[in-house]
Amino acid sequence: MPTAVVTGASRGIGSEFVVRLLESGWKVYAGYRSDKHRLELIDNENLFCYSLDVTDNKSIKNFCDKITDDVDLLINNAGVPDGRWRNISEIDDEWVLQVLNINSVGPVRMVRELYDKMNHDSLTTIAMISSLMGSIDDCHSGRSYAYRASKTALNMFSVAMKKEALEDNISFLILHPGWVKTRMGGEHAPVELSDSVEGMLNLIVNHTLDKSGRFVQYDGVDLPW
Ligand SMILES: NC(=O)c1ccc[n+]([C@@H]2O[C@H](COP(=O)([O-])OP(=O)(O)OC[C@H]3O[C@@H](n4cnc5c(N)ncnc54)[C@H](OP(=O)(O)O)[C@@H]3O)[C@@H](O)[C@H]2O)c1
Repeated sequence: MPTAVVTGASRGIGSEFVVRLLESGWKVYAGYRSDKHRLELIDNENLFCYSLDVTDNKSIKNFCDKITDDVDLLINNAGVPDGRWRNISEIDDEWVLQVLNINSVGPVRMVRELYDKMNHDSLTTIAMISSLMGSIDDCHSGRSYAYRASKTALNMFSVAMKKEALEDNISFLILHPGWVKTRMGGEHAPVELSDSVEGMLNLIVNHTLDKSGRFVQYDGVDLPW
C-alpha cells in the first residue's frame, strides 16, 4: 500500500486529496493546523491525522516522527491568501513575511524533514500546490503581491531542489489547481473541488522522474513561468 502525506488537510483542496487517496487505496498521513474540520468526518483505518503547522519546525518534526512508512507522495498543499491590499501603500510587511513563511518556506521544511523517509529505490513524488498567480509571464493584472511572490518563490525552490533530488529518485510536480471553490477560492470560483483534485491526482499518478519540475494546471495544460 503506497503512503502519502498531505499538509493543510483539514478542508478545501487538502481534504479532498485525503478522501480521493483513501478511495484509491493509499495510506494517508494528514496534517491539520488547529481544527480537523472535514477530517473529523472520515472513518478509515488507513487515515492518520496529526497536528501540523508548516511554519513551526518542532510541529513538523513531531508530525514526521509519527510516520513509520516510506513516503511515496508528499502533497505540500497548506497555504494562505494575502491581504488583497488595493494599493502598494497598504502592504503589510509582517503579513508578507507570514505568507512567504507558510506558502514558500513551509513546503521546503516538509521536504527537508521527510527526505530520509523517501525510499530512494522507488519513485517519490513531491507535489507542490502552487498557483498560476506565481507565474511572472501571466502577471497581467498585478496586485496580490505577497501571494504571487510566495508562489513564484515556491516554484523556484522546487526547480532548484529538483537537480539534487533526481539522484535520489525524487520528482517534483508543480501544480495549479485552477480557481477552485474553497474558502480561499470563494463561491464564485468556476472549478469544482472534485474536478480539480481528480485532475491533479491523475497528473500525480502518471508523473515520472524525467518530468520533474513540470509546472502544470489541474487539467494537464503546461503553464508559463
Ligand atoms: N482555491 C483556489 O482557487 C486556489 C488556486 C490556486 C492555488 N491554490 C492553492 O491550493 C492550496 C489549498 O488551498 P484551498 O483553496 O484549499 O484553501 P483553504 O480552503 O483556505 O485551505 C487551506 C488549508 O491550509 C491550511 N493552513 C494554513 N496555514 C497553515 C499552516 N501554517 N500550517 C499548516 N496548515 C496551514 C489551512 O488550515 P486551517 O484549517 O487551520 O486554516 C487549510 O487546511 C493552497 O496552497 C493555495 O494557495 C488554491
